[in-house]
Amino acid sequence: MKLTVIGCGYLGATHAACMAELGHDVLGVDVNPDKVARLSSGEVPFFEPGLGDILRRNISAGGLSFTTEADAAAAHGSVHFIGVGTPQRARGHAADTSYVESAVDALVPHLRGDHLIVGKSTVPVGTAASLARRISTLTAPDATVDLAWNPEFLREGYAVEDTLRPDRLVIGTDPDSDARAARAVLRDVYREIIDTGLPVIETDWSTAELVKVSANAFLATKISFINAISELCEIVGADVSTLADAIGHDKRIGRRFLNAGLGFGGGCLPKDIRAFEARAEELGAHGALRFLREVDTINMRRRSAMVELIAQVCPRELLGANIAVLGAAFKPESDDVRDSPALSVAGQLALRGASVTVFDPKANANSQRMYPMLGYADSAAEAAQDADVVAIATEWAQFVHMAPSELDPVVRSRVIVDGRRCLDPQSWRRAGWSYAALGGAVAT
Ligand code: UGA
Repeated sequence: MKLTVIGCGYLGATHAACMAELGHDVLGVDVNPDKVARLSSGEVPFFEPGLGDILRRNISAGGLSFTTEADAAAAHGSVHFIGVGTPQRARGHAADTSYVESAVDALVPHLRGDHLIVGKSTVPVGTAASLARRISTLTAPDATVDLAWNPEFLREGYAVEDTLRPDRLVIGTDPDSDARAARAVLRDVYREIIDTGLPVIETDWSTAELVKVSANAFLATKISFINAISELCEIVGADVSTLADAIGHDKRIGRRFLNAGLGFGGGCLPKDIRAFEARAEELGAHGALRFLREVDTINMRRRSAMVELIAQVCPRELLGANIAVLGAAFKPESDDVRDSPALSVAGQLALRGASVTVFDPKANANSQRMYPMLGYADSAAEAAQDADVVAIATEWAQFVHMAPSELDPVVRSRVIVDGRRCLDPQSWRRAGWSYAALGGAVAT
């Protein structure tokens, strides 16, 4: 099938490449000429394992190309995915849907014949209904344009796998009209994946929009739940990691997303829970999602708790101390530093007068743009040169498997703070290090 994907950021570029991988003829559209040029030459503008390979393979095979021209999208095919960003507004917590609206404004007037627009962006509930009204005012007399909402659940770092082997497919359509045609088109697009036995949930626009934000809100709540419990564990000397293992064995709870530590960041969970609560208030569901504020508060508190823990174990005053922060990305296997807990900790330490040196295997360049006042190193050992404290802020495998002997010769004090509870405390303690984990004791 001939598909277009409008918006070639994280979501759109991945979707475009993966749809081409499924055998479709895909045209990616983005207003940013630099992004289009890089993608066209087979370069992924961000770090995402495996994406470069499928991008280049499908460009060479002729099934994937990119353009800045909206009218080219209209001429290319009849199914148009919208994967543009919906960032938090500059003021307040609501989501800014203006890029989604601009995408529709740029595309729809060029359409002739029958088309289906498929929203993939994370949007406040009610967006599809208002977009449908917008679409109908822009549609030419000789065109019919249908709208479906098909949220995306991919995780950064696993974007290709999550797109090609998702847990479920959600298709939301107009509740007031016959949705059979739109559903059939999307079933055709995803045929190869659906045939593997994938659950397909066919529903209305609002439910589809809500599924996405509810899933992210639930995941955020799980993380803040375990982090709140860790605050208690810290006081009584209990081990929150063992506790998470124990409650996680209950299948109703599950062990995933119960890793206590520095908490969640990135371009999705923090902004999505804020926008979700704001939307609930707007719709008159006063107080229904107020608990998400607490989820947010618990999460933000982890960052200052990490700074306090570092201050506590640091053999000298923070003012003038050398702190190595290992990790800058909001999570491993990503170079994304948006709302990164690691960088928030590094920034707070610097504001308290510490001399902070950061090392991240992939995110140094992005961090440097955002936090130019921090020091940057090209390896963990270089960051740890003369360090009074080494702090693990992102659980990259290379930090998890790092031997204390790699840092022994360079540090000023053998003090390590594990903000992600990912190290083996025994091996560090045996090597003569003082080991402290955010969230309290680690079982020995
Ligand atoms: C999240 C969701 O997991 C995806 O399903 C969703 O599609 C995506 O947002 C989105 O809305 O686009 P992502 O932001 O890539 O994906 O990252 P996650 O893997 O969810 O991690 C989010 C944050 O939670 C990270 O900072 C991670 O370190 C933290 N986390 C995760 C914990 O602190 N503890 C855990 O147990 C798990």
